[in-house]
Amino acid sequence: MSEKFRNKFLSPEERAADILLRMTLHEKVMQLVQRPIGIDSNPNNASTWTTFNPLFGSILNFSGSVEERNAYQKAAVEDTRLGIPILWAFDVIHGYKTSFPVPLAQAATFDLETAFSVNAASNREARKSCGTDIAFAPMCEVCRDPRWGRIVESYGEDPYTVSRFTEAAVRGIQDGNPGMLACLKHFAGYSAATGGRDYSAVEIAEIAMQECYLPPFEAGVKAGAKCVMSGFNALNGDPVIKYRNLLEDILRGQWGFNGMVISDCNAAKQLDDQGYSSDKMKQAVASLQAGNDMDMVDMVYFALEDAVDRGDVSVADINRAVKRILEVKFSVGLFESPYVDVQELPDYPEMDALALDAARKSAVLLKNENGLLPLKPAEYRKILLTGPAADDASCLIGSWMGAAKWDAEYAALLKDTAEEYFPAGTVVYRKSVGFTGEDDDPDLSATALAAAEECDMIIAALGENGNMSGEYRSRAFIGLPGRQLQFLRELKKLGKPVLVLLTAGRPLVLSEVAENCDAMLMLWQAGKMASRAAWDIVTGKVSPSGRLPVSFPRCEGQIPCHYNQRPLARRRFKEYIDLPDGALYPFGFGLSYADIVYGNLQVSENPDGDFIAEIELHNNSDIDTDEVVLWYISDPEAELTQPVKRLIGFSREYLPAHADKTIRLKIIPERDLSYPDAVGKRHLEAGKFVLDCSGKADVSFQFSRPEKK
Ligand code: BGC
Repeated sequence: MSEKFRNKFLSPEERAADILLRMTLHEKVMQLVQRPIGIDSNPNNASTWTTFNPLFGSILNFSGSVEERNAYQKAAVEDTRLGIPILWAFDVIHGYKTSFPVPLAQAATFDLETAFSVNAASNREARKSCGTDIAFAPMCEVCRDPRWGRIVESYGEDPYTVSRFTEAAVRGIQDGNPGMLACLKHFAGYSAATGGRDYSAVEIAEIAMQECYLPPFEAGVKAGAKCVMSGFNALNGDPVIKYRNLLEDILRGQWGFNGMVISDCNAAKQLDDQGYSSDKMKQAVASLQAGNDMDMVDMVYFALEDAVDRGDVSVADINRAVKRILEVKFSVGLFESPYVDVQELPDYPEMDALALDAARKSAVLLKNENGLLPLKPAEYRKILLTGPAADDASCLIGSWMGAAKWDAEYAALLKDTAEEYFPAGTVVYRKSVGFTGEDDDPDLSATALAAAEECDMIIAALGENGNMSGEYRSRAFIGLPGRQLQFLRELKKLGKPVLVLLTAGRPLVLSEVAENCDAMLMLWQAGKMASRAAWDIVTGKVSPSGRLPVSFPRCEGQIPCHYNQRPLARRRFKEYIDLPDGALYPFGFGLSYADIVYGNLQVSENPDGDFIAEIELHNNSDIDTDEVVLWYISDPEAELTQPVKRLIGFSREYLPAHADKTIRLKIIPERDLSYPDAVGKRHLEAGKFVLDCSGKADVSFQFSRPEKK
């Protein structure tokens, strides 16, 4: 074997160095290019692409068969001089064909095993279906503005939660599917979109970067993510795609990332829109030199060959990027296994059961007056089911649907599964208002209201459809869209109990909705099994156990209203003269059918200097349930003042009826009691700390060790 790079016993670095010596400049530049094949249904990038070149480094959005993918791959492996295989990328955000809860809903489970399994399962399905190698996930951006449509892809407003879910997703994608790569996106600050407007420039203070926006990316890198996608956004004036300090100094220098960085779709070309330059060569050079190894879609990197000739970029810059891409290809075994062998890949077990379990765990009960829920079907003669979400699959699946379609085949409709849960004839479905109000037929609403008069209770399935959140889906008003609220008011006037089932890819403003119903269950967009999970909870087969990973504002003017802000300088003062303080439903909120009593919270110091916290939980009811336990720390006296509280741990605990359980948390001062400054240096100060458990119990304790120098 004369070509060293073919020797699988050598390291990826040695193999990449060897192959690099054999490559022409053109072959190198082609490795830096990612192009799409197939249909991109993402509304803002929607297009069909056909051009294939076997020298491309990577292909995205291909959703054809594995056989087709392997045939393309064969052209790269067998019909090119060096036979470098292509990496196949796909946006596997919450499923491929089997749709799982959207990431925001996954976070509501506060269950990392669920996040691991959902990512492992959906990527296995993508790999088996179309031969995906890179999942463009997880999106590990902390998101505090519900107007931004991409909040649906996030794990919410809390850096700790987002970090843990990022790790679980990375492991699910990569460890759950050897040979696959996770791609952390979008590095960094995209989610802080000003006013929630997608693609807007953002200004983020250094301290906020350190406390909030960088930690989940660092956690993802430490969990082993092999790919990072840079953002579209300008950050503090500099488009991220040309922000070398971020892509090289922080990502690689400080965190030791040694995978590949890819720019986001057309980001280099967009440097024109952003006011940097319309010159493709300048765009390409800026992007490459900042640390983007691969360029997504826009073909701007083709200008690099001329840029080398002109001396605008060095071959060393190009080599560095090519080498990183090739090292990744070697490290995941792509040269040894360029083809996906469907026979060798086992199916992921019980996809539907996993989808159902995840959907059940993600639903959040927001209101339950007079114990309306769980419904006892036998107590109702007739129930009216109405509202746009009862008869729509898009609202259950949401954006980034992979190869699924907004069709009942991919997510059974609420109106169709109701009959599995209620005696025949009990639930009467009547069409009424639509999602947007544009094509509302007043006759339909009138018929539904007339039907409601004949019923003993009303279930209104309301919210957003699947096209109202996601990329390029910012909303200025985040209440119920269209005429849904007016219709709900009319239903409520009938004086019958009203249950609202909500579908949405973001927190909604629900103040008036809450006033016009007795019970409210947030279903998010929970995927294929969403409707069955909903009825399981409504009828009491399962107790609701999801908790909000993001706060729901009282009105748009209150945004941002995340829980972990710093205190007011005048704590006793109200926030607004015309609004009650605090979110309508804050982070961590969620009701249960069971009555879980928290007691005897204690903190003790170990001889090694760590602390152990203990809390006793008692299920004071006849109902089996899961309880999400959330641990918060407050540091009321600090040199650099700290948020009123911040999460440092969580777990999901199974508590059968009348069971007791003691839950423990280890507090490591260096990790949990310290805080970063504006340059990321951590400070650990002696003094008083307060530990809060799920907002149900708190205790203060002293930390007295001096700061280590
Ligand atoms: C999105 C990315 C996505 C890419 C490829 C872009 O518009 O911002 O998150 O991975 O398209 O589909």
